[in-house]
Amino acid sequence: MHSDVERILLTRKEIDDRIFEIGKQISEDYEGKKPIFVGVLKGCFIFMADLMRSVSADCTMDFMAVSSYSGTVSTGAVKINKDLSQDISGRHVILVEDILDSGVTLSYLRNYLNVREPASIKIATLLDKPSRRKADIYPDYSCFEVPDAFVVGYGLDYDETYRNLPYIGILKPEVYS
Ligand code: IMP
Ligand code: MG
Repeated sequence: MHSDVERILLTRKEIDDRIFEIGKQISEDYEGKKPIFVGVLKGCFIFMADLMRSVSADCTMDFMAVSSYSGTVSTGAVKINKDLSQDISGRHVILVEDILDSGVTLSYLRNYLNVREPASIKIATLLDKPSRRKADIYPDYSCFEVPDAFVVGYGLDYDETYRNLPYIGILKPEVYS
């Protein structure tokens, strides 16, 4: 375990198994619909890679990049740094996030993409931290609920570090205080 991690919340095996289940569910729900997975960079990259490989339905993918965070405290503002490179009108969109926290980012993105008239927009998140929710938004597919602690690994960062940890761990508070 990394020395900046207080404890491991979810092991690689637990994460893998759960993503496999969610992938199966998405495959059934989207049979014959060819959904487009839209990953929210950068935190989504590991989850999205695993999720898509567990989906058997035909699908496509794209990425968006947004920034709303600096350190552990949300600035509340969402900025689009990279938009989609294709048209999503009439498509079934699955927004893929690492963690649904306040929900400010995803609720902004959902409204932003809705204007382009997709057939549907659903949300798939690796982690859900419902205790911190500010926006009226819920995941359609969530792998795990986590407590109100700052977690890293499996794509999630603190100031761009720890994304490579092959588990989800709670970061020691002294690292960011
Ligand atoms: P929201 O707009 O508050 O839902 O913010 C979502 C984004 O904040 C996520 O995509 C993460 O990048 C970041 N975030 C929120 N909580 C955590 C955490 O515990 N660890 C790492 N990143 C987090
Ligand atoms: Mg982040």
